[in-house]
Amino acid sequence: MALDVAALSSCTKCRLSQSRTRVVIGTGPSDAALLLVGEAPGRHEDEGGAPFIGRSGQLLFALIEEVVGLKRDQCYVTNTVKCRPPGNRVPARDELDACRPWLTEQLADLAPRVTLAVGLTAAREVLGATLSMSAVHGRARHLAEHTGIATYHPAAALRDPALVAVMREDLAVVRAFLEAP
Ligand code: URA
Repeated sequence: MALDVAALSSCTKCRLSQSRTRVVIGTGPSDAALLLVGEAPGRHEDEGGAPFIGRSGQLLFALIEEVVGLKRDQCYVTNTVKCRPPGNRVPARDELDACRPWLTEQLADLAPRVTLAVGLTAAREVLGATLSMSAVHGRARHLAEHTGIATYHPAAALRDPALVAVMREDLAVVRAFLEAP
């Protein structure tokens, strides 16, 4: 079933709808081989209506272009929740659950070759990860119809630049799966 963009744009299934400026649905081509799922829109995304358009996104897409060879507009980009949590807190369980059907429809519509979960919240929601990021990053999980890989959130790498090298290694795994016959 195709994502009902009008319904999602006016969604009130959870409390985040009361404080959001815009619903951040996702951007990118519907036939993208690589799907990126982050945690939640931040302030820039809430105002601009697109995911990862702040500093984190600049770092993330610079690394993806360098290592994977794809530009932002060649990837489909979205988040586990489509509305900004106040103060950029981690989305609550009931908010993640309320938003999950939208992500499930996006996954079904896009049928990406590889899904990159960006940060621990996405790794838990998309890959079913139960451990810490240090334990799950860079390992491919073969899910129903696509391969899932997790990496650190670029906001963490902005705080701890040593993580940039780890993200490069994780993205090399993404590249290998995208190039595999
Ligand atoms: N962080 C995220 O996880 N997603 C965004 O869209 C922006 C920042």
